[in-house]
Amino acid sequence: MSAKLILGTQWGDEGKAKFIDYFSKSIDVIVRYQGGANAGHTVKVDNESYVFHLIPSGILYPDTICVLGNGVVIDPISFLDEITYLEEKNIPNAKERIIISDLAHIVLPIHISLDKASEEMAAKNKIGTTLRGIGACYGDKVTRAGLRIADILDEKVAAERLDNILEIKNITLTKVYGLPEVSRDALLENLVSFGNKIRPLVKNTSLYLNNALSNGKNILLEGAQGTGLDIDFGTYPYVTSTNTTTGASISGSGISFSYLKEVIGICKAYITRVGEGPFPTELHGKEGDTLQRLGNEFGATTGRPRRCGWLDIELLKHAVRVNGLTSLALTKIDIFSEYDEVKIAKSYYKNKERLEAFPALGYEDIEVEYETLKGWKKDIRNVRNLVDLPSECRAYIDRITELVDVPIKFISVGPGREDTIVV
Ligand code: GDP
Ligand code: IMO
Ligand code: MG
Repeated sequence: MSAKLILGTQWGDEGKAKFIDYFSKSIDVIVRYQGGANAGHTVKVDNESYVFHLIPSGILYPDTICVLGNGVVIDPISFLDEITYLEEKNIPNAKERIIISDLAHIVLPIHISLDKASEEMAAKNKIGTTLRGIGACYGDKVTRAGLRIADILDEKVAAERLDNILEIKNITLTKVYGLPEVSRDALLENLVSFGNKIRPLVKNTSLYLNNALSNGKNILLEGAQGTGLDIDFGTYPYVTSTNTTTGASISGSGISFSYLKEVIGICKAYITRVGEGPFPTELHGKEGDTLQRLGNEFGATTGRPRRCGWLDIELLKHAVRVNGLTSLALTKIDIFSEYDEVKIAKSYYKNKERLEAFPALGYEDIEVEYETLKGWKKDIRNVRNLVDLPSECRAYIDRITELVDVPIKFISVGPGREDTIVV
């Protein structure tokens, strides 16, 4: 009947998966619509942690259907590994509940080699990608040199497409990057074999989703990454290779925009960033290390330590605007329980002049204005009602709402499903 969208308001890892799992209880179909195995989504249920990269985080509910939409890029090896992982974790009928768009593009081993090689060559100018071949695959998609799921379901089509692609790709690999040529026959065999394995799961997912919606089903669109990593609205070039903002949920799933009724932005009580790129509120040295340790901020995909800093209202306002957020869910507020005081970055200045919005460049010269609020010095992990939160903690939440003018409807005080306050 309607679609709800959950996406990140920062540089990823805001706790999207926790809320996707939380809402999945009343949802029929969950859809990933952009990104690929660069995402690392952790869900904690009954003391067991589950990490997902490609498969939607709603798969833990036994009856939910999980769709990989046309906007996603699928690495066959990651996908099959994740299916095995779900089987090992005894998730019932996982494979039977997954539907893959025939229009989704495939991450080829060449894309992963090129991602690694270009990061190595860029050296000090590297992006710090997840090395999952994301940029190279989307690059081929937009230059019309990609391979889609539909193409590998027919061996003749796959062979023709691959011949066209490799003709140029092998020159790039050998002449530009000094890498070995790709063997066409072995790659074709692997791709056709993958196509045969997933054939029963492949559908026109736009048709499937719009029919489901018109038949009264509820759909949840699962964002990956975050607004600061958006190819247009993020800190370019230190971004991922897709739009991560609201528009991508429509173009990457093929549902009609008229079904989209709610856009929930996930906002961590502080900010983290993995990889390179500007971060105006970053905490360096001991302060950053403390937040990293208390928040256990290590990447779920690459294991890299996440850089940490104070909540940034300019970035959040930018996310509210470009995504049309209808509400916010605030996560990891429990991490501040030991703090005497907490800070919020209220605004950006340059040469004493206040910036009107999150800028396109020049982040290193930004002077950040902070507001300091009193800490609550209490463990709040067992609190389930807003009125039971310490008054200092409520003051902190109220201040965020006041500054961004969007209601915080959910507050997360721990990683589990039950560690949630509905406002
Ligand atoms: P995502 O990529 O946005 O889905 O976020 P990740 O799963 O990569 O990172 C968020 C991490 O924080 C995960 O390990 C979650 O289990 C955990 N988490 C989520 N919400 C909370 C919370 O409110 N408190 C605490 N302590 N941990 C949380
Ligand atoms: P989730 O969904 C945090 C970052 C990488 C790098 C940049 C480009 O878990 O929030 P890419 O491999 O996409 O070409 O890398 O984007 N990045 C993420 N950072 N969380 C993610 O996903 C990310 N996915 C990509 O670290 O800086
Ligand atoms: Mg993550």
